[in-house]
Amino acid sequence: MDSIRVIGGSRLEGTIPISGAKNAALPLMIASLLSAETLTLENVPQLADVVQLGRILGNHGVDLTIAGKRSGHRAVDGQTFRLTAHEIVDTLAPYEMVSRMRASFWVLGPLVARMGEAKVSLPGGCAIGTRPVDLHLEALRALGAEIELEGGYVLAKAPKGLQGGRITFPKVSVGATHNALMASALAKGESVIENAAREPEVGDVAECLVKMGAQIDGIGTSTLTIQGADELKGAVHTVLPDRIETGTYAMAVAATGGDVLLDNARADLLESPLDILRQAGVEITVTNSGIRVARNGAGLNPVNVETQPFPGFPTDLQAQLMALMSMAKGTSTIRETIFENRFMHVQELARLGAEIDLDGDLASVAGVEKLHGAQVMATDLRASVSLVIAGLAAEGETIINRVYHIDRGFERIEEKLGRCGARIERLSS
Ligand code: EPZ
Repeated sequence: MDSIRVIGGSRLEGTIPISGAKNAALPLMIASLLSAETLTLENVPQLADVVQLGRILGNHGVDLTIAGKRSGHRAVDGQTFRLTAHEIVDTLAPYEMVSRMRASFWVLGPLVARMGEAKVSLPGGCAIGTRPVDLHLEALRALGAEIELEGGYVLAKAPKGLQGGRITFPKVSVGATHNALMASALAKGESVIENAAREPEVGDVAECLVKMGAQIDGIGTSTLTIQGADELKGAVHTVLPDRIETGTYAMAVAATGGDVLLDNARADLLESPLDILRQAGVEITVTNSGIRVARNGAGLNPVNVETQPFPGFPTDLQAQLMALMSMAKGTSTIRETIFENRFMHVQELARLGAEIDLDGDLASVAGVEKLHGAQVMATDLRASVSLVIAGLAAEGETIINRVYHIDRGFERIEEKLGRCGARIERLSS
């Protein structure tokens, strides 16, 4: 297993290209199951999760080709994928695959919509416990699917096809909204999704479905109205920039000091985090090509933040903000309201000298003068990258073990940071 070695203390100066969003690319790839024609996706990031999903979709019969580079192609442009589900050869998504990546559960809606049946493993871990799928199942039931649970699998059937229906989510769920939206696009008649997730990645998928022939009103709002199509056609769609990668590098610059242009970033996708960074005393300038982040000399002000569905502060930036606030001039509070157990980074940040007190869903972070390098362990994707941020600002050497988590969601991280002056390298085991 690879690890990452960081020597802290260097300011970051230069340009970091922002990649296409992982959490849009994954459902967009899954949307290819809805059509027999080719879906071309541009700006797909090079990530382990994307590769893994390509394999999973291949199992259902999706042919994936990756276009070669063209002249004028820039590092920020990402890959071009052509996905063709001419024939779905298998509607089974086995445990071995779904347990490795939760988002692959989202094939359920598209498969039952197109094929009238699907058998998809429940995602790994205690799926009905801490990260349940009840909202996904209720949504498909509202569209007329019969759902049974059997031996750890969800069996969904709609032999005559799905029917438009009204889905009212009691709680905002990104994944359940993706599932409901993709299924509705091939259901007969009109569907209405109320309390839909407003995350930009949901909007990106909706825009793509419109190009494929679905009619969708209310994109970007919490009520989506969909007129399903008998068949969806091929389309060409560009994946939107990754707001979590953007926010992560913005916090890295805030932590180390320096001046960096986040090239291709879109400020409208992360107004809440940018606002929090401004409150912390970080200089944020929106330019034609992206977002400039700068901090010179002055210390960081503490902030009080609560994670919320979009447009609130994203849970996927909570760990990174905590790393940053570990070095603020005072005590910050960070409340995690989306996932009850998303504080695994706390004990690792403590190894670097952070002073964090946990009380249920509330973390109180007392800023310290300096963090000190140490050996730490990556526990999940965003937690891992919070350790990179802390390591970049800490005194001395930090070794982050188990970096495969980072490769799931951050493209060429050591190269992107290294070009801006960070002392960071990958150690292969
Ligand atoms: C998506 O996960 C993202 N994943 C997550 O990013 C992100 O943290 C999360 O949304 C919240 O923004 C992808 O896009 C691939 P949810 P998802 O359904 O869809 C509860 C990352 O690091 N819930 O919006 O699985 C659930 O337990 C990942 O890139 C139910 O109760 O999250 C949670 O408390 C991690 N029943 C809340 O809803 C359900 O049926 C929000 O979860 C489904 C969810």
